[in-house]
Amino acid sequence: MARTPRILHLLLALCILSTKSTSSSATSATDAFLGCLSTDIPPRLLHTPATPSYSALLLSSVRNLRYILPGTTRPLAVVAATEPAHVQTTVRCGRRHSIRIRTRSGGHDYEGLSYASLDRNERFAVLDLAELRTIRVDAARAEAWAESGATLGELYYTVGAANHTLAFPAGSCPTVCLGGQLSGGGFGSLARKYGLSADNVLDAVVVDADGRLLNRSTMGEDLFWAIRGGGGESFGVVLSWRLRLVRVPETVTVFSIRRSRNQSAIDLITKWQEIAPVLPWDLYLRVLVQNQHADFVALYLGGCSRLLYLMRDHFPDLGMKQQDCQEISWVQSTVFFAFFTTSKPLELLLDRSGKPNYYLKVKSDHVQEPIPRLVWESTWAWLEKPEAALLMLDPYGGRMGSISPSATPFPHRKGNLYQLQYYSFWFENGTAALEKRMSWVRGLYKEMEPYVSKNPRAVYVNYRDLDLGTNELKGNVTSYAKAKVWGVKYFKGNFERLAAVKSMVDPDDFFRNEQSIPPLPAAKG
Ligand code: FDA
Repeated sequence: MARTPRILHLLLALCILSTKSTSSSATSATDAFLGCLSTDIPPRLLHTPATPSYSALLLSSVRNLRYILPGTTRPLAVVAATEPAHVQTTVRCGRRHSIRIRTRSGGHDYEGLSYASLDRNERFAVLDLAELRTIRVDAARAEAWAESGATLGELYYTVGAANHTLAFPAGSCPTVCLGGQLSGGGFGSLARKYGLSADNVLDAVVVDADGRLLNRSTMGEDLFWAIRGGGGESFGVVLSWRLRLVRVPETVTVFSIRRSRNQSAIDLITKWQEIAPVLPWDLYLRVLVQNQHADFVALYLGGCSRLLYLMRDHFPDLGMKQQDCQEISWVQSTVFFAFFTTSKPLELLLDRSGKPNYYLKVKSDHVQEPIPRLVWESTWAWLEKPEAALLMLDPYGGRMGSISPSATPFPHRKGNLYQLQYYSFWFENGTAALEKRMSWVRGLYKEMEPYVSKNPRAVYVNYRDLDLGTNELKGNVTSYAKAKVWGVKYFKGNFERLAAVKSMVDPDDFFRNEQSIPPLPAAKG
């Protein structure tokens, strides 16, 4: 009788002692880390929970309220870098004092990986790159150097101002930053003509795990391959990118045609699946499905009369008319894709101020065979349940299908008709809403399983989804076997090469998060 409580007391005492010693050693490591930072980084750029500016800066680019709920592990500091040397110092000090870094450019990660940790015990600092956002366009060479903290909107605006016939292929959301976008691929309305953003990167400047500054010739082709699509955070901090700008005509044409569910939308979507991926490369036609309607939204690299001819030839059932056309510049088309209108000023592309006002969970698929009409009917029925849900269908084909699946880590090339995103977003606080919305999107994803890519059920890494699996440690590095579960879904056969690059450039696994690339175990190398 008397022995059990005594053992319990002993265990409790040990636990308290070890917690005390861990927490006091944690405090001294934190102090040492902050002291190390302060040797090179001015105090106004170092924000800790004790600084009044900490919360505002931490929240400044958060895009998903799910990762700032009470109880979320917060960083012990936010470093607002304004020079490459600040990044080098943060990496060196983090490594020296065992404080992890979460690099944040635009904060749009669907799972908040750039500013939040699932591990309640993780001690980490956010390295915020929002102030590193210089863009220099060399129109004569059709190239640009752009820093990672620049938004897509800033890049589009600057390129458009330099030359009306130059553009850069990337996503539609203007506040997404280059750091995350290019690290994972970068898909947008020019992808069928010119591929992903990552397919158009010519050089980059990276801070590696030793705090060294490397460019393409000093980092070597393996690391240069890995940072163009292997996902953010795993290999180092990319400071800037040299981009190949692409040619567009002075006038492009856009349209958005709405068809309701009880009109013809289900028939049209069923047909769209076979038509959109084989349209001429100059024509991108996506579908957004919400509530009771589907919007068919297009960018054509040419004028209205030719587009009318193409649409009548390839997709007469959509019933496109001359009055649907809006002939504008390419840069104005980026406003159209962001704000669904051509009448807003270009300067809106420069607005970084969007505040987070919704909770978000996104899941996604690749579709390789057209989904039957009957399935679309039942899929659409899912959209009746929550008020805020959206399906996005983005066509592949064109240049996307002609690039080798191993040219960059992004493997989803030939054989894919389109990507399908299931968006669940909501505004209500509380666990009941959270559970309801999460189970809605997971339920829909489960239902779609028979109709989408298999072995693996493939996903684009920039549409980050922690349901696919999260990392576990083996010893002091991330387990390759565990990571492979999610890794092959994002990268298919490229996953092993990514792990081999990780072993070369960061064998101690300093740059890590819930879905970072693990080092390749020696036995596999
Ligand atoms: P964030 O700063 O959150 O970074 C994302 C990841 O990259 C994190 O793991 C981070 O640590 C790491 N990282 C960031 N900067 C880094 C750097 N300099 N060096 C190394 N690692 C770095 N995608 C797409 O292809 N096409 C699209 O049209 C859209 N549209 C879209 C709309 C909205 C509203 C959202 C929320 C997201 C998208 N996306 C998208 C997905 C987007 O491309 C993806 O989330 C990017 O990783 C976001 O990049 P940020 O720099 O903004 O995010």
